[in-house]
Amino acid sequence: MEKLTVTPWEVNGELNDSSYSKLVEKFGVDLINDNLISRINKISKGNLHPLLKRKVFFAHRELNLVLDDYENNRPFYLYTGRGPSGKMHIGHLLPFTFALWLQRTFNVNLFIQMTDDEKFLISGKEKNEIEKFTNDNILDIISLGFDPKKTHILADYRSAKVLYYYATDVAKHITVSTVKAVFGVNDSDNIGKVFFPSMQITPAFLFSALTGKKMRCLIPYAIDQDPYFRIARDVLPKLGYYKPSAIISKFLPALQGNSAKMSSSKTESAIFLDDSKAEVKKKLMKYAFSGGKDTLEEQRKYGANPDIDFAFLEYSFLEEDQGKVDRIYQDYKSGKMLSGEMKELAAEKISEFLESLKTKKEKMKDRVGEYMFDPEKIKLYS
Ligand code: TYM
Repeated sequence: MEKLTVTPWEVNGELNDSSYSKLVEKFGVDLINDNLISRINKISKGNLHPLLKRKVFFAHRELNLVLDDYENNRPFYLYTGRGPSGKMHIGHLLPFTFALWLQRTFNVNLFIQMTDDEKFLISGKEKNEIEKFTNDNILDIISLGFDPKKTHILADYRSAKVLYYYATDVAKHITVSTVKAVFGVNDSDNIGKVFFPSMQITPAFLFSALTGKKMRCLIPYAIDQDPYFRIARDVLPKLGYYKPSAIISKFLPALQGNSAKMSSSKTESAIFLDDSKAEVKKKLMKYAFSGGKDTLEEQRKYGANPDIDFAFLEYSFLEEDQGKVDRIYQDYKSGKMLSGEMKELAAEKISEFLESLKTKKEKMKDRVGEYMFDPEKIKLYS
């Protein structure tokens, strides 16, 4: 079997329950238990996000301390990001839709980092191509509905003056051998890859650095990004800041569900945000992994397994009416609903979501400036 490798720059091997358990152990993260869920449920007044409810966000680091802070009226902030190497697919949206829900639930500030420098260093793409994707991805992200007053986008090249200043503090505490061990960097790699992790770690304390107030940072991401923040947790206390907390998700699987993640490099594995209604439908009908039975008779008799069904899972993330999701779950599981019907329903929901995102994106074109990082805005929280 292919060896399981999960780093920010390489994901290989089967992604199933047992590999996630291995990663939890290897990375030293904790599972989100019922006690944490019920605390968050209470704070959200019963509006638990479906990604938490369905345990797609399944692991964490010191999430309890962030909840303690919130419950004791101590401020904290959120941080997440995107490496703009291409068009975004619906898998990339998971941490962002979740961050949006966290921002609304806790009413907190959020940093979004666009690591254009990372993508320049690790991909074969030219800077001007990456810049186009940076601008386009930013539009996709802000169209989700983030609060412009509390959302600060750090595009690394544009925010380099501030980021670099603090990144050198981080770099001074990370050895080359750590980067080799954690990211799989080797002697023939370019030296930019060795320095880059300090850029991604910096926003995890930037709010505290700029305001002079020590504040916790909560970072939502899929588990491939964990290596950065594992190192951050060693370094930040040495600089006088809290270890960052994290809330960590599994990957949205490839359409084919073949224990691979949805990936931009495999076009047929992904639904892209600019896919048309016809493309979405075609991809779902042709590729989407089904938890249903092989024949109509068997499906009617034994029902489907919605928990591994791509169409159901995606539908459940997008449908706001959780009562409706629960009903569909029961109907599909009991055999009342067929796999083709589930795919139709999901295709409809996904296209509706993508169409509305496209309309919002058009309107957002003039508003990007409101979201871009400005250190003076952060200092107002001093
Ligand atoms: P990137 O652009 O590879 O991915 C953006 C975010 O999406 C998550 N992700 C997925 N989530 C669910 N299903 C998938 N199939 C899937 N593929 C990717 C990633 O874990 C990530 O959270 N270096 C980063 C950008 C970054 C960042 C951050 C990410 C900068 N600072 C802080 C998270 C937190 C990157 O290239 O992400």
